[in-house]
Amino acid sequence: MKHYALGSVVLRALTINARNCNRHGLPVAAAEMRHRCVASGGNGGFVYWKRMMASEAEAKLPEKEKEKSGRKEEKSERSVVESSYWGISRPKIRKEDGTEWPWNCFMPWETYRSNLSIDLTKHHVPKNFLDKVAYRTVKILRIPTDVFFQRRYGCRAMMLETVAAVPGMVGGMLLHLRSLRKFQQSGGWIKALLEEAENERMHLMTMVELVKPKWYERLLVLAVQGVFFNAFFVLYILSPKLAHRIVGYLEEEAIHSYTEYLKDIDSGAIENVPAPAIAIDYWRLPKDAKLKDVITVIRADEAHHRDVNHFASDIHFLGKELREAPAPLGYH
Ligand SMILES: [Fe+2]
Ligand SMILES: [Fe+2]
Repeated sequence: MKHYALGSVVLRALTINARNCNRHGLPVAAAEMRHRCVASGGNGGFVYWKRMMASEAEAKLPEKEKEKSGRKEEKSERSVVESSYWGISRPKIRKEDGTEWPWNCFMPWETYRSNLSIDLTKHHVPKNFLDKVAYRTVKILRIPTDVFFQRRYGCRAMMLETVAAVPGMVGGMLLHLRSLRKFQQSGGWIKALLEEAENERMHLMTMVELVKPKWYERLLVLAVQGVFFNAFFVLYILSPKLAHRIVGYLEEEAIHSYTEYLKDIDSGAIENVPAPAIAIDYWRLPKDAKLKDVITVIRADEAHHRDVNHFASDIHFLGKELREAPAPLGYH
């Protein structure tokens, strides 16, 4: 019975993946997804895994100490799970190569191959007053960023991703509350915007593996988040069309920044280091992927966010509600 229950959970997840993770709109067979990740469970046992990529400090530890700390971690994680009165456990999930799935923050059915053929040059020409306000706002916001970070694209990307993950969450949350208040379906837009927020957060989790934030950068993030969250929250209530247009232009700037980042990698100004393990698994990159591959897929994601937000703003400009147009689920 338990085998069956676990099996159905996995199958359901695989089906969700087939629906959600296919940005090309092509049908992905559940069988293929099953091939990608094999979940084995049914023994009701605990699940233990650790991050594939050791931190810098861990990498410097001698082998014996690593083993020792690994054993300690394993023991403490086991005891947490074994002592669970609630019987909560995750089935063991394996990768295609048979190794254990190492992440708890995302599952294989949430991973995807980036659509790199997306047009990076698309631009929404400001047509009316609100468009121009949005465009100017973003251009003005870019000035302090340029001054502060200049060509330190690693730090710049890390800091900007802490901001980029906010609008989707605020928009998704407000649409969620609206749906409750009005007893109306959201047309999938709540999920679409939350997917975008999650995707942006994964950009940040990746950048953090490459750039270690300094104390004053962490402080800056606190201040910026405090201001930006509240400002965007109020703006989204007052004018969702302006809010989405601003995000659309912010995404256009993000594409530009990542293009400059790639130029610096090509010129050798930034070392093309191996890709972090989290990025390899999240974007299904080859094992020998490099920083350049990671930045390329992140840039493609930003182009998708650009499209989603300009599209959302266009819907509002037509005097319609988002729920009246199909939500771009799985398009992030
Ligand atoms: Fe991003
Ligand atoms: Fe983005």
